[in-house]
Amino acid sequence: MRNSPAPSEAAKAQSGESVAAEVHAPFYQVLKTAMLLGHVLLTGPRGTGKSYAVMQLARERGKQVFVCQGHADLTAEDLVGSPGLVNGSSSFIAGPLYNAVKQGAWFVFEEANLARGGIGALLNRVLDVGGTLAVPFTGEEIVVPESFRALLCVNECGYSACRPLAESLKDRLRAIHCDYWDDQHETEVLRRALHGLSGEQIRGMLTVAKGIREARKKGETNFDFSLRSLLQWGADTQFRTKNLMESFESVVIAKLGDPAEVGLQAEPIREIARFVLQHAASDFIPI
Ligand SMILES: Nc1ncnc2c1ncn2[C@@H]1O[C@H](COP(=O)(O)OP(=O)(O)OP(=O)(O)O)[C@@H](O)[C@H]1O
Ligand SMILES: [Mg+2]
Repeated sequence: MRNSPAPSEAAKAQSGESVAAEVHAPFYQVLKTAMLLGHVLLTGPRGTGKSYAVMQLARERGKQVFVCQGHADLTAEDLVGSPGLVNGSSSFIAGPLYNAVKQGAWFVFEEANLARGGIGALLNRVLDVGGTLAVPFTGEEIVVPESFRALLCVNECGYSACRPLAESLKDRLRAIHCDYWDDQHETEVLRRALHGLSGEQIRGMLTVAKGIREARKKGETNFDFSLRSLLQWGADTQFRTKNLMESFESVVIAKLGDPAEVGLQAEPIREIARFVLQHAASDFIPI
């Protein structure tokens, strides 16, 4: 859990550094408008730039962000604050929700669907129009300021630790689905991040990613080909001067774990990569 503004983001906001040259996610404009109007729920596959977009927008608006990572053992005290020792005397250690409410800042709750139901009840009260945050340790009942915003991020996940968000909590949020990016946006991010790769190599990588994402939709694999994985694959190719298939093995296939145990997962995605890189792109990609 990070209970302080991200320093680099805050520093950039203070220095007035321009963010105009950055690539924005396809859902960025929708997010911008939604954040003016109220609290937001970002859903979608893993690694589609949800957290990045929130930090970009916070920087653009000069807002402080307090981040909390959801997990099964997260308590209301973790969010609000708890008693602790400061210089040997008993004191209140503020949590990220307390800090965000108190400062009229943004509260970002990553993987909110890993937390238990009680957390939802706490948030409901904060997110209501004219909401309040009760702080048992200090006895405060803070009226939530207009400028406070909550952003909940939720990944599509099939494992049992995920719980559906309570309908009452969802009802207080504007939901934005953050899907895989279109070709134009994804190409632009890869192009800027991976100067050492040719346009053809980037096109080949995107074709592989799209093929694997399609296969996942059809249930042929569970592998979730994120933008993050694409950037790692490209960086490995660029900095270790490998060919795309070698770095695919060491970055993408390695994510699946022990090859003996994950043969069923590894083979379909390896097959797609081989096919694309050898056939579709054989004229221009050295493999
Ligand atoms: N607009 C962008 N410009 C450059 N890089 C980006 C951009 N958006 C996302 N990325 C990169 O893509 C990767 C995934 O982004 P991010 O962590 O924001 O995704 P996420 O949807 O929050 O992931 P998760 O679902 O795992 O929390 C990161 O490496 C991030 O730096
Ligand atoms: Mg994230």
